[in-house]
Parts: sequence; C-alpha cells; structure tokens
Amino acid sequence: MCDVLTKLLQDEGYRCQTARTGEEGIEKLCQEFFDLVLLDLMMPGIGGMKTLEKIHKADASIPVVILTAYASIESAVQATRAGAFDFLAKPFKNEELLLVVKNGLQKRALQLENEQLRRTLREQTSFENIVGKNERMQQVFDLIMQVAPRRSTILIQGESGTGKELVAKAIHHRSPRADRPFVAVNSGTIPSELLESELFGHVKGAFTGATNAKKGLFEVADGGTVFLDEVGTIPFETQARLLRVIQEREFRRVGGIENIKVDVRIIAATNSDLRKGVEEGRFREDLYYRLNVITIPLPPLRERKMDIPLLADFFVRRYSRENGRELCTLMPETLKVLLEHDWPGNVRELENAIERAVVLAPGNQITPDLFPREVLESEGSMHDHWGLLQGGASLKDLVADFERNLILSALEKTDGNQKKAAHLLRLKATTLNEKLKRLKIRIGKRNEDSSK
Ligand SMILES: Nc1ncnc2c1ncn2[C@@H]1O[C@H](COP(=O)(O)OP(=O)(O)O)[C@@H](O)[C@H]1O
Ligand SMILES: [Mg+2]
Repeated sequence: MCDVLTKLLQDEGYRCQTARTGEEGIEKLCQEFFDLVLLDLMMPGIGGMKTLEKIHKADASIPVVILTAYASIESAVQATRAGAFDFLAKPFKNEELLLVVKNGLQKRALQLENEQLRRTLREQTSFENIVGKNERMQQVFDLIMQVAPRRSTILIQGESGTGKELVAKAIHHRSPRADRPFVAVNSGTIPSELLESELFGHVKGAFTGATNAKKGLFEVADGGTVFLDEVGTIPFETQARLLRVIQEREFRRVGGIENIKVDVRIIAATNSDLRKGVEEGRFREDLYYRLNVITIPLPPLRERKMDIPLLADFFVRRYSRENGRELCTLMPETLKVLLEHDWPGNVRELENAIERAVVLAPGNQITPDLFPREVLESEGSMHDHWGLLQGGASLKDLVADFERNLILSALEKTDGNQKKAAHLLRLKATTLNEKLKRLKIRIGKRNEDSSK
C-alpha cells in the first residue's frame, strides 16, 4: 500500500515519505516539515488512533487523512471526530485519493497564510504604533522582545505620557497570553477603600453596599496580563495582598475564606522613584524587589527630541485620517517650534497638540499659530547641550539636531524653496534632498509648488 501510494503521489508531482508504524511516522514528523498525512488505522505498534493524537500534538494544524477498510468505517468516523481532516474507505479510486489530498493541502496552505497574517497584524498593532528611532527607544524595543515571551514581572518607569501603557500592551500582544485579557488598573484613580475589592473581588455582604459577590480584576485577567498603573500609589496594606498574589499566585476575595488560584502576569508602571518610596516607608521593600525584576525605563520626550519629527508625522497622519481630512502637512517652521518646546507632558502632550492643530487647521497646512501659547513660547532646551548629554543624548544626536535646525531655518528663510535653501547651506540640491528624506523633514505643498 505504501509503495503504491508513493508511486501515485510522486507521479502527480508530490514529494512523499513513508513510515510503516505510527512511531516511525511521528519521528519523521518531528524532524521535517510536512503538509499532509495519510494514516492507516490498522497498524502494528501504537495503532492509528493513538498516532493521530500524537500527530496533533506535534503539529496541531496538519491535515490527516484516514485510510481504512470498509469494516472499520465506524472508527474512521471516530477519527474525524478526533480531528482527522477526512477519511477514505479501502478500496478507493486513485482520483478519489488525489482529490482528498488536494483539498487537504489547500486547507493547510490557507491555514498557514492565516497564521502569517495574524502574526504580522499583531506585530503592527504592537510595535509599529510605538514610534521611536532614538537609541534608548531602540533599547526599549529590544527589551520588549526579550521579556514578552517570559512570565516575569516587569516594572515600567517613566514620566507621565511617555508611553508606559503602550509598552505594557506591546509586551502583552507579543506574549503567549496575547489571546487572553489585558486588564489595566490605575490605582491612582480608584479610591483606596475600593481598590482591594476592585483587584480581588468581594463576597456578598463583605462590607456595606456589597449586596452581591463580585469578581476582582485578577480573576477577570486569568491567563492574561494585569497592568498596575501608578503602582506607587497603592496603599501600604493592599501592597501586602499584592505581594501574596505575586508569590503564591493565589488570593482571597474581600471577606472571603476560599483561596482563589490565578495565572496572571503582572506589569507595573510608575512615574515616581519607587526606591524613594521604600526609603520613606510608603512602599514595601519586599514588593519593590518583586516588581523590580526587570525594569524598562522610558525616556522623557525632551531627552529624545530627534523622535519629535517622526512622532509629529505619525500623529498628523493618524488625526488627518481619523477626522476624515486630506493628509495635512507640517510646515517646516512648525516643526522648528515643536522641536524647541520641552514637552513636560511628553508624547501625550505632543499628540494632543497635534490632534488639536489638525482639527483647527483651515486648510491642509499645519502652521505654528495652531498650537497653544505654552508650546510657542517655550524657552527651548535645544541649546542646553550638556543637559541633553546628561539626559542620555549622544554627540551624534546633538549634531543631527543641529543639522536639522539649520536646514529648517534655511527652508524657512527661503520660503521652502529647496534649491535656494541648498544654496544657503552650500549643499548640492540633491544632497539636501537626501538629508530631508533621512531626517524625515517634509515640505509643505505650497512650498513645493513655489520651488518648481
Ligand atoms: N512612542 C510612542 N509612539 C506613539 N505614540 C505614543 C508613544 N508614546 C506614547 N504615545 C501615545 O501617547 C499617549 C500616552 O501614552 P501612555 O502609554 O498612556 O503614557 P503613560 O502611560 O506613560 O502616561 C497615548 O495616546 C499613546 O498612544
Ligand atoms: Mg498611563
């Protein structure tokens, strides 16, 4: 039978290998990539049903076609219930077999394509919406990749608006828990007397007003990730219960006596220095060490100003699209203003400012006057080079900033005329053009027209 089928399939152009027992087949399956299995139910050794089970353990999506004698149709039906793709009763015609094989392979191809699509989709929503070219952001991306597949607790540290929640979500999306819930809790916004019941749930009658039992967020997130935002604001007593969840993976509902087991990964975020909280006796030292296994520091925007043009461009696109507008253009003089501001509210402040400008812009050009006064009037720390170096910028970053500023002001002086600007900078027009592309400086439409 093996030899006959091999000949038939090879004549059709398929590559094929044979095995005479289930054990042998599974061994082959683990060594190489196959697209389809033809499986007899009556075999020496572990037999067909057991083999089917093991095949699916090795490769859950491989189609398995059962070949069986008429007498054992019953078991073939059973096999399809157990996940076999199809079955053929012996004796069968060659065409019948070839048709089933073709269908099975088609299904396999579709499935692989779907998996691929899902994977890229996941990468897009999780990585590509974290914008950052700066070296410290690149380190953040590397860290995300490294920690995502693990279960370890993560602490994300950064000022408000630096993207802590975005990073937490990226880690979740890239983890094996991606299909399970991501639950965010901001302990800073929940009254402390309600926090424990939010996190751990409560039993009926646990306190006045607890008329019904309620599940806590840890239970809701079972199998997934809990994001504890502003972890530094969690009251001291609640910290002890949190520590217990991390260590024992179990807790009790408020007022309850039953231990509830959960499997959650904890990602915590803070915008304050937790160590200082420990020194001042506001934060438990043991919890601090538990949370601080891996720390991801997020730099404030003012220390990675080179990312401002990228981010600005990203948000202009997003909000032009969201508001159903034609794609707006950031004027060079606008970019200059954005680069000079210090952004105490970090990326969130930049995002809001750009959303507002896109909405308010009368035409499709984003000009400086569309920004609030505090953005326009900033002192600008661009010239505080030592400060920037201490903040983690490198000489290369600073030189790039300097280059950008000079180019922007040349463009401003020449009303966006690239040829004239190149002349001012004593560059060839083509060199300037390359630099504009590299620095992601986009020239407004009006200016492009006037340069023609
Ligand atoms: N690197 C980034 N790229 C794109 N958007 C960002 C980035 N960092 C932050 N944002 C956006 O800024 C806003 C604030 O981010 P968030 O993660 O809530 O910050 P945090 O939790 O640190 O206060 C969100 O709308 C987020 O999408
Ligand atoms: Mg936040």
